[in-house]
Amino acid sequence: MKTLEDLPIQEGSRVLVRLDVNVPITDGIIHDDFRIAESVPTIRYLAQKKAKCVVVGHLGRPDGKAQKEFSLQPIAKRLGELLGKEVKFIPDPIGQEMQKQIGQMKPGEVVFLENIRFYPGEEQNDETFAKQLAQLADFYVNDAFGACHRAHASIAGVAKHLPSAAGLLLQKEVEVLAQIRERPEKPMIVIVGGTKVETKASFLAHISKNADAILLGNLISREAKEKGLQVAPSAEIVYAEDSIPGNGEEFDIGPQTLELFLSKLKGSRTVFWAGPLGKIEEEQYEKGSLAIANAILQSGAYAVAGGGDLAAFLNKHNLREKFAHVSTGGGAMLAFLAGEELPGLKALEFQV
Ligand code: 3PG
Repeated sequence: MKTLEDLPIQEGSRVLVRLDVNVPITDGIIHDDFRIAESVPTIRYLAQKKAKCVVVGHLGRPDGKAQKEFSLQPIAKRLGELLGKEVKFIPDPIGQEMQKQIGQMKPGEVVFLENIRFYPGEEQNDETFAKQLAQLADFYVNDAFGACHRAHASIAGVAKHLPSAAGLLLQKEVEVLAQIRERPEKPMIVIVGGTKVETKASFLAHISKNADAILLGNLISREAKEKGLQVAPSAEIVYAEDSIPGNGEEFDIGPQTLELFLSKLKGSRTVFWAGPLGKIEEEQYEKGSLAIANAILQSGAYAVAGGGDLAAFLNKHNLREKFAHVSTGGGAMLAFLAGEELPGLKALEFQV
């Protein structure tokens, strides 16, 4: 897989950069800008090279239609604030006006296109649409790890038509997650919270081959017991034993479970954590996740976490920076760790 340094980007080169800026937002208020902030190094690199940066992203699932609530305008503004430079927002990326505007860009400038999912060709991975996007630039950089499991035009299609490479975030994501998937330092403990065991089944089946123990939060423990879970026999499954406030309501792991999980974390060399262990949107149910986060950090293990809610939670408690890596991927991260081929990575000819 080519990386930024492999592209012969010069002053004035036009670079189409795909970011995953799909962040929690209501009425233009961004609740967690983690994905935007993590995209900054690549844009800064390109701006320093005096390239003309044309940023493409999506927000939500607008179904191929322009809808104001899914506009990327507030996100473009936030990127500008984080970069400390003007980011011009372009409401209609595909029309002729756009070509003209890019032509007028100065080296080092950044423009941000409107939500690419407003165009039906994006999710259909339409060839003509991918070519239209490619015509906007000389190079294509994919820094949208979180969207690499989607075979969409701006993720998979456009790479066929331009010299392409991974951005700095994408490169880091695949390096860290490939290590977790292929060659973790052992013992490795995997912690999984949340629900929907069926969406995590193939990830658990795959990662269990290298995991020594898999610790499951309350809800997923219950689902796993009801629906069954296929994991490698070498991995111990550790189910939650009690909960807060107890008896049927499972809003946080209980004291017995916490003790059990802490004992399993002792001596671990790698910890991978996906999904909070309680109803963390309410402060009184944060305790279990907080205790686990601190124990992971104190253990000195190589600590990697992922998933939007968990990333926001760690940030709220100033713990995100203390992890070796917090993935910006949700579905993409689980698919990668399940050993699936991600269309966005395939387009960049990624190999482990
Ligand atoms: C995500 O939030 O996981 C990515 O941005 C992909 O979004 P999607 O699930 O709407 O394709």
